Amino acid sequence: MTARRTPLVAGNWKMNTTVGEGLDKARELLAGDLPEDVEVAVLPPFTHLWPMHAVLQGGRVRIGAQDVFWEDAGAYTGEVSPASLEGWCDYVLVGHSERRHLLGETDEQVHRKLSRALSHDLQVIVAVGETLQEREAGETLAVVHRQLDAAFDGIDGAAMARCVVAYEPVWAIGTGRTATPEQAQEVCEAVRARLTRLFDGAVGAATRVLYGGSVTAANAAELFAQPDIDGGLVGGVSLKPAEFLRVVAAASGTAR
Ligand code: PGA
Repeated sequence: MTARRTPLVAGNWKMNTTVGEGLDKARELLAGDLPEDVEVAVLPPFTHLWPMHAVLQGGRVRIGAQDVFWEDAGAYTGEVSPASLEGWCDYVLVGHSERRHLLGETDEQVHRKLSRALSHDLQVIVAVGETLQEREAGETLAVVHRQLDAAFDGIDGAAMARCVVAYEPVWAIGTGRTATPEQAQEVCEAVRARLTRLFDGAVGAATRVLYGGSVTAANAAELFAQPDIDGGLVGGVSLKPAEFLRVVAAASGTAR
């Protein structure tokens, strides 16, 4: 059987590093051992994107933005248009829990960002996940379903080829408390089932579903070995190029 899903390991640098430090890390990654069968991306702060794109151009590391706005142009002080990223930036991330919870971003706003990004030539990583309180109340799947249904409302199935879902339990982000492989698999499998219901079986089978939340070189292999996990969205460890490269290596051989 031919592999349909190439694993993706994306490093979300969040609001860390100066431009100079970022360029150094990008060069370190390029000089590292990057397996052919894993797609690698870094999501640095907006200020870094253009100079880092120049450094990474032609190499095997893709570049992405951590957010994007839902309009193309206009009086939106401080926002970044998807039109300004098109043509050179590979990915945008939308719906990260830090934006949802610290900045009050709603499901509807995540949807608008996703659809506007898709109207440009961008690939979109959509992050979903439950809080600890929601997990303890037994609401994990209901929350994830709600976030997926809202994000992908009215999206054309053909555009799903440019979408990736990242399941990131909020309680696992930056806490050192990783979901167990079984917990992560259970929700990633449910994400795929929901995509099948929202679109069709082909979309469910072809869409990459990542796990994120305290992924390290020590736990990555077990997580990525799960049948419905197609790589990871990595925060803290992505700031350490040597360890990040070990996380990337752990995704090698997991294409499905
Ligand atoms: P973490 O962050 O790896 O530091 O837990 C993951 C994320 O927020 O994407």
